[in-house]
Amino acid sequence: MHKNWNRSACSPVEYLTIFNNLLTVINGLAEVAMRRVPASDRVHEYLTSILKAGSQARDLTRQLLAFSRKQVFQPRSVDINVVIRDLEKMLRRLIGEDIKMETVLHPGIATVRADPGQIEQILVNLIVNARDAIQEKSGAAAEKRITIETKPWRLDSSYVADHSESRVGPHVMIAISDSGVGMTEAVRSKIFEPFFTTKELGRGTGLGLATVYGIIKQNGGTIQVYSEPGRGASFKIFWPVTGETASPPEGEADSEASLRGNETILLVEDHDGVRGFAGNALREYGYSVLEARDGIEALERLDESNTSVALAVTDLIMPRMNGNELADRMASLYPEIRVLFASGYTDSYVIESGAVKEGVNFLQKPYSRQELAKSVRQLLDQ
Ligand SMILES: Nc1ncnc2c1ncn2[C@@H]1O[C@H](COP(=O)(O)OP(=O)(O)OP(=O)(O)O)[C@@H](O)[C@H]1O
Ligand SMILES: [Mg+2]
Repeated sequence: MHKNWNRSACSPVEYLTIFNNLLTVINGLAEVAMRRVPASDRVHEYLTSILKAGSQARDLTRQLLAFSRKQVFQPRSVDINVVIRDLEKMLRRLIGEDIKMETVLHPGIATVRADPGQIEQILVNLIVNARDAIQEKSGAAAEKRITIETKPWRLDSSYVADHSESRVGPHVMIAISDSGVGMTEAVRSKIFEPFFTTKELGRGTGLGLATVYGIIKQNGGTIQVYSEPGRGASFKIFWPVTGETASPPEGEADSEASLRGNETILLVEDHDGVRGFAGNALREYGYSVLEARDGIEALERLDESNTSVALAVTDLIMPRMNGNELADRMASLYPEIRVLFASGYTDSYVIESGAVKEGVNFLQKPYSRQELAKSVRQLLDQ
């Protein structure tokens, strides 16, 4: 087994396999030795520490193996809802009793080609991260909740144009949202890097999300992350549905014209990139757009505007004044303005958490130019 040890031609996977075998010996013998030494003995304590470190090392090699994408990969036709249901019990055990976990599984999702083991690995990594993020948020009164959702989702060409790694067509969206500490933009931009972790030494390897990313890439999917410091996080995976026969036409040509309009729209969004994208999209569809970075600025724009605003598209979580407060203020000051909330958090998650009321108009990010235009037009025509 160790015959390749001195050769440099070993692949990373082979090294890992050898390393795993060495660990098996170390852990196995530590266990045997532990049984021979009375618990009162100091040596028993040493052996316990060896075993603990040994099993952490074993977990690490497992992640590394998966990360090098060479783990035996056996894709087959899979119903993701079934995988999630089968895993639910284990996941609940993983997160503990004080955290509420709910599943909102869309009954009509297509089967996908996937290795169920890989889907499990993704779910476990994301759920453990969510648990850690919730536990990190101090205050016993804080809400502790994880939501797992599935939904059919079509990525269209305008979305793909803005997200070059994704593909046009039917997908299954899998979303994991939590009420944890959330993260800053600086952290968010690094989370998929191997070995990036904010956890203390010995608690995180920083390979969880790198593994998740590797698996999703391998399967031609994409992942999007939404988070605000102190406001939880939402991870959305778009898993391609392959082998779909007679995929419904996108019908972009005929609907494009029907999505146009010339009304004035107030766009409230604190993220410069998103605001720029959405603003341009709405202008391309013929609308006049007033832009604001938060609720306070939005009220200023409305106050100084001399054209009447037909609709406000607002983000939910923003500094100074959030989307809900803005909507309340507008309801009394400008009752004629319709409101469309947009958020990276999923609709059932924000409604369940009480962030918005049921029945509000809600657009989930990431949205494409066309989805934005469609929601806007629908609401204006109501
Ligand atoms: N749900 C989340 N909420 C807030 N921050 C998160 C969340 N998920 C991941 N992160 C951040 O991303 C970092 C990287 O996550 P990743 O899963 O790759 O590694 P890790 O959890 O630190 O270690 P491990 O290898 O044990 O998974 C975390 O350390 C944390 O800072
Ligand atoms: Mg992790």
